[in-house]
Amino acid sequence: MAGIDGSETADKAVDILTETEAAAELARLAAEIAAHDRRYYQDDAPAVSDADYDALRQRNAAIEARFPALIREDSPSKRVGATPAGTFSKVTHAAPMLSLDNAFDDDDVAEFAARVRRFLKLDPDSPLAMTAEPKIDGLSLSLRYESGRLVTAATRGDGTVGENVTANARTIGDIPETLPDDAPEIVEVRGEVYMTHAAFAELNARQEAEGKQTYVNPRNTAAGSLRQLDPAVTAARPLKFFAYAWGEMSAMPEMTQFAMVERLAAWGFKTNPQLRRCLSVAEMIDTYREIEAGRAGLDYDIDGVVYKVDDLGLQRRLGFVARSPRWAIAHKFPAEKATTVLESIDIQVGRTGALTPVARLTPVTVGGVVVTNATLHNEDYIRGIGADGEEIRGGKDIREGDTVTIQRAGDVIPQILDVDLDKRPQGAVPFDFPTVCPACESHAVREVNDKTGKVDAVRRCTGGLICPAQAVERLKHFVSRDAFDIEGLGARQVAAFRELPMDEGGIRQPADIFTLAARDAVSLKKLKDREGWGERSAENLFAAIDARREIALNRFIYALGIRHVGETTAKILARHYGDFASFAAAMGAAGDRNGEAWADLNAIDGIGAVVAAAIVEFFAEDHNREAVAALLAEVAPQAAETVAADGSPVAGKTVVFTGSLERMTRDEAKAMAERLGAKVAGSVSKRTDLVIAGPGAGSKLKKAGELGVEVIDEAGWFDLVGAGQA
Ligand code: IVH
Repeated sequence: MAGIDGSETADKAVDILTETEAAAELARLAAEIAAHDRRYYQDDAPAVSDADYDALRQRNAAIEARFPALIREDSPSKRVGATPAGTFSKVTHAAPMLSLDNAFDDDDVAEFAARVRRFLKLDPDSPLAMTAEPKIDGLSLSLRYESGRLVTAATRGDGTVGENVTANARTIGDIPETLPDDAPEIVEVRGEVYMTHAAFAELNARQEAEGKQTYVNPRNTAAGSLRQLDPAVTAARPLKFFAYAWGEMSAMPEMTQFAMVERLAAWGFKTNPQLRRCLSVAEMIDTYREIEAGRAGLDYDIDGVVYKVDDLGLQRRLGFVARSPRWAIAHKFPAEKATTVLESIDIQVGRTGALTPVARLTPVTVGGVVVTNATLHNEDYIRGIGADGEEIRGGKDIREGDTVTIQRAGDVIPQILDVDLDKRPQGAVPFDFPTVCPACESHAVREVNDKTGKVDAVRRCTGGLICPAQAVERLKHFVSRDAFDIEGLGARQVAAFRELPMDEGGIRQPADIFTLAARDAVSLKKLKDREGWGERSAENLFAAIDARREIALNRFIYALGIRHVGETTAKILARHYGDFASFAAAMGAAGDRNGEAWADLNAIDGIGAVVAAAIVEFFAEDHNREAVAALLAEVAPQAAETVAADGSPVAGKTVVFTGSLERMTRDEAKAMAERLGAKVAGSVSKRTDLVIAGPGAGSKLKKAGELGVEVIDEAGWFDLVGAGQA
């Protein structure tokens, strides 16, 4: 089949391609397949038959098999079951689908149990039951039953909104269509969809027999299979399901995690046979070892052990931080390792100017995934120096051409662990870390930390606004999932728009995204005429951009890309300041380090001095204020949403806890107040609505008296919010 660009190598048999031709051909195929994907998934208007499309993918796979070193970062083979964005309808989860924090060793597990105890103010020796069970390496699914019938199956998505895959889920034998009569009116069962090794092997054998592309690993295949547009395809790929959690429940039939899972089994769900109830950290670790020892004998992939506080009442009290519950943790199995050759070291420039060395590797399979890149952290790491100036790897440096050990753990970026000096090629030279930015040639420096007096491990480009690499990274951050999350405008697209002239649809700063449609309307070079775009996809993009002209304040703050301001900090700031104008005004005023605004910022729970300084610095820069003003002309950040706290007597109030508390720890008090929609501050000011003072309260209590702020004690707090909330 001839390529859309009519290139000469397009018809050449794979086995006679030269390496140069193969590289060109892979580039062409990547572009062509991506264009077909867009037409198929976004425009719903495929330009080729399924058979022709399959032939393209097959050719790509065949060339990659012959020239593994040429596999591209954007290869279609890395997108098995590519994201069919926007083709499934969206489902908003009644209760968010959470992720888990990780523990990597026994100490982390002990610390987890200790943390739970501290939070709950439990005695270190008091019993605390936990469940332990395998962490299934699949994808999570939420099943909603109403009146005993399955009504919706949704993927996790971003945790808040997932995709409606009900028709596909119905083809999975482990998922019951109806529940017995004792099930409550509303039941949301959550668990993991996975594929067995046997089914995976059989599927791949079938693919191979039919001359089709084979799949990389069971997890990706399960994900791809569940997200097929045609349920018949899903049905032909035997998927399985383990139930281990739940979302909304109109009534809770049990009081413990363990009993709930047994109940799920009684309702007809498959639950994992290795679920245990443990009464101590030692038992938890024993269970971990047992599950790890049996791992190779299982017919499905697991990547760790999940521990959960057994008592559901305690789970409720513990609540969540950001996206993870405080009452559960995943104890991961050790990362998988492999040896390969470090072909070259590239320097990437990040959003904040950090120069990060990236290892380009001879492709190697680590735990079922082909790895071509790994991080080298920073220049000290390459030289054999650790974070505290200590020697690492026995002081061995890492050079281009070296044979290296890499490690990959879950979805974390693989890293280089060690180097084999016996295999170092003759003439290999120490890596010369650049002292100028590869993107803008500004000086790249290692700053001295004011506080510690230590030289920062990270070298940063000083180019700021003039650095194109930083600009691209800032834009990528702006459109990322937890920021503006504009459908159809991902990292790759935004980088491409950055290259275009402004009068031809270019994007230089965030505000330009929102003027794109208006500029396109008067431009001679329209988006719809560009390669890879069409009338429909251009219109969809403009609509998706318009849909973000109103956005939650925390996302807006996060999107600005202020150093040290991650998602959690952005939420804290949004909640504290309420609306953007107040936030910006306060940050301007906080430039005066003796003033109240600076003190107020530093008093916020969860905001430390480094973060506070970074935010104030951001707003002190003219160009940042200008970029924000331009953005505000286009976008309206919404006043911060208070948490679901309908009817809560403290919703929207600013409260301060001081003195010692008896019935709960400070952390628990804070979490409880926030759950009820209150803002928790660390110091008393005119804006404080309520002070909860325990024994030993001092200056804050006094200040409350002076300012006439209402003061109650801990018992008063429980009376106010209702004892049931404890
Ligand atoms: S509990 C609120 N249990 O791991 C906690 N998750 O890293 C909800 N997973 O998104 C999760 N096996 O997809 C839980 N036995 C297990 C699990 C499990 C696999 C997945 C799940 C979750 C992810 C978090």
